[in-house]
Amino acid sequence: MKVKVLPSNRDFEARVDEPVLTAALRQHLNLPHSCKGGSCGTCRVRVLSGRYAYPHGRPLGITAAEESAGHALICQARALEDLVIETREIRHVTDVEIKSLPCRIERMERLAHDVMGLWLRWPAIEPFTWQSGQYVDVMLPGERRRSYSLANPPHDGRFLELHVRRVPGGAFSERLFSELQAGALLHMEGPLGQFVYRPGERPLLLIGGGTGYAPLKAMLRQVLETEARREVTLFWGARTDADLYEDGWLRLLDAKQQRFRYVPVLSEQVAGDACEHGLVHEAVLRKVPGLAGYDIYAAGPPAMIDAVRAALPPQGADPERIYFDSFEYAPS
Ligand SMILES: Cc1cc2nc3c(=O)[nH]c(=O)nc-3n(C[C@H](O)[C@H](O)[C@H](O)COP(=O)(O)OP(=O)(O)OC[C@H]3O[C@@H](n4cnc5c(N)ncnc54)[C@H](O)[C@@H]3O)c2cc1C
Ligand code: FES
Repeated sequence: MKVKVLPSNRDFEARVDEPVLTAALRQHLNLPHSCKGGSCGTCRVRVLSGRYAYPHGRPLGITAAEESAGHALICQARALEDLVIETREIRHVTDVEIKSLPCRIERMERLAHDVMGLWLRWPAIEPFTWQSGQYVDVMLPGERRRSYSLANPPHDGRFLELHVRRVPGGAFSERLFSELQAGALLHMEGPLGQFVYRPGERPLLLIGGGTGYAPLKAMLRQVLETEARREVTLFWGARTDADLYEDGWLRLLDAKQQRFRYVPVLSEQVAGDACEHGLVHEAVLRKVPGLAGYDIYAAGPPAMIDAVRAALPPQGADPERIYFDSFEYAPS
């Protein structure tokens, strides 16, 4: 089936047994998306012509009314015939070529009891760049893939830095913790995703849950290392202080940099004055008056993203200026 994308007038081929988004990414067209699980709504398009189907019924991220108005979520929809779809594309992101590359594990470091830092090196002859906030897919056998955010900004582009949390029994993360060693070869595709840092004057509010800190670290470094004035506040939520694996570095940065504020938030441990207690979005609501002035970037588990999207706009945050990346896990 042929899928034509407006307004860019690009087209690509999609099989009936694969989501339209998967086909686009496979053919190196980085259409807007985040969770790839049908819940966040980022991949919504208008279907101008052609039939499609959802194999598991209408996904959670789209209402019946939106569907009747001609909208569809392409991370779930399969094309039944040729389609013409209209989508918002961020041109500077869609124009970057998605590459499929072998990568060697240059270094591995346990950042926390269940988080591994990985530094990957790609072939020197291949130019490769990305934007702070984007992710890469690590390819597994059987056409399976796992997404990991890049934790370093492109101006420090010698390696790709990933932070991988161990999921018991997880096809990739368990293998990483139990088997893989420095020197091993992985295959990756990227850069992917439209969760990218947008330069500007407004203060930044970064909200991360667990390894959702990774893409925010890239943005934080970009702002503090390449821009002169922009103010940044980072709220980092975790269960216990052992999970805040770069807490020491962030506290030092906070003490050194007047325009940076770091607020650690623990949900399962009361840690005195050194941390906020509760869920990370609750701490934001308590500590940040005047949310209207901020550009807000949130990354982490789907429940955290849903809470941020629901709770911040009623307190003044501009929904158009909340950007998010939901770490939905891949369907089996
Ligand atoms: C855009 C994006 C960016 C991401 N970035 C990161 C990142 O920077 N760091 C990171 O660690 N992860 C990140 N993830 C999640 C990551 O892609 C994988 O889903 C995760 O590492 C699990 O993969 P796995 O192969 O180890 O486990 P799988 O083989 O996928 O899962 C094994 C079993 O555990 C279940 N499961 C998987 N994850 C969870 C979970 N979190 N909670 C409960 N059950 C679960 C699965 O349903 C399955 O039954 C990101 C996801 C997305 C969509
Ligand atoms: S609903 Fe499709 S990417 Fe999230």
